[in-house]
Amino acid sequence: MKGKAAISGLSILLVVGVALGVVAVVHRSNNNNAPLTPHMKAVTDFCSSTDYKDSCHRTLGTVNTTDPKEFIAHAILASQDAVKKFFNYSDSLIVQASNNSRNKMALDDCKDMMDLAVQSLQASFSDVGDAQLHTLSDRINDIRTWLSAVISYQQSCLDGFEKNDAMRPMMENGVLDASQLTANALAIVTKLGDILSKLGLDFKIPTFKRRLLSSEYPEWFSASDRKLLGRIDNSRLKPNVIVAQDGSGQFKTIGEALAAAPKNNPNRHIIYVKAGIYDEYITIDKKTINILMYGDGPRKTIVTGHKNYVDGTSTWQTATFCKFQKPYMCRPLR
Ligand SMILES: *[C@@H]1O[C@H](CO)[C@@H](O)[C@H](O)[C@H]1NC(C)=O
Ligand SMILES: *[C@@H]1O[C@H](CO)[C@@H](O)[C@H](O)[C@H]1NC(C)=O
Ligand SMILES: *[C@@H]1O[C@H](CO)[C@@H](O)[C@H](O)[C@H]1NC(C)=O
Repeated sequence: MKGKAAISGLSILLVVGVALGVVAVVHRSNNNNAPLTPHMKAVTDFCSSTDYKDSCHRTLGTVNTTDPKEFIAHAILASQDAVKKFFNYSDSLIVQASNNSRNKMALDDCKDMMDLAVQSLQASFSDVGDAQLHTLSDRINDIRTWLSAVISYQQSCLDGFEKNDAMRPMMENGVLDASQLTANALAIVTKLGDILSKLGLDFKIPTFKRRLLSSEYPEWFSASDRKLLGRIDNSRLKPNVIVAQDGSGQFKTIGEALAAAPKNNPNRHIIYVKAGIYDEYITIDKKTINILMYGDGPRKTIVTGHKNYVDGTSTWQTATFCKFQKPYMCRPLR
């Protein structure tokens, strides 16, 4: 059995190599009519699906391989590097914004979000790193979710600046590289997903469910809540309601589920938020107590709410109240 699995892994690699070759064989270099190297064929093929082809060629051109995993890893690293540069850029502008509290707050928010973006990119990078090509196909949706979250963070960062503020064009310019490279990485991952699914390789492998360490809970968790969450295997916890974007639950948004939650409820009301990116502004009113929300895990359920700046509060700190990095308890806002 083991031998068989190893062989099928190998043949998948070869089949993908061949598929890329076939698609790319039509691309020839114009000047001397010589066929492109397999490496250049693969690069051209992957970059053909991106919106920013020049930067794609710059990113992948130096990767001397035809291994799709390496291409994706490099695209993610390039995005990560650009996000880090943008973090530094945001930081460098804080001095200039020192007499403008709104911009200063917006810059601080951008730094927070770029921090989260780097974490998302690291998570997608490690998803690629320890996958075999045939298990990678199962992770492609996860990686796309991570990368989409990075794009959303970049957008939310800009939302913190007023349309006619002098700092806004500076920030738009500063984020350009990061947003192009992230969009490219998303297109490249999607392209590989398409190739694998054309080859019938989009297996559905159940994902490993990890237990939380007690140090991962927020400090304000009670012992009994820790116990409850410690027992959570998301597949067995019985939620009172389900939120799902595809309509398979009672609600499509977290806000609707919270609005419908019982008020002053002495018992725990459990809301399960299925995989997806929820672009919502979440608040929980004082009477909605005893809510436990959990998602499908850090790679699946992501809340990226953003809201326009009102009354001197910054968008980011008020916008997303519960993040579904892990099962989260939500406390009512004051
Ligand atoms: C790319 O790799 C191949 C084989 O591993 C090697 O022969 C070739 O010289 C390398 N090209 C460059 C530009 O490093
Ligand atoms: C960001 O700034 C830090 C500290 O100044 C520096 O070490 C790092 O290399 C910079 N990162 C990038 C990507 O420019
Ligand atoms: C902030 O300070 C700079 C000089 O350091 C000045 O040119 C600018 O007009 C000030 N902006 C505000 C909003 O006060």
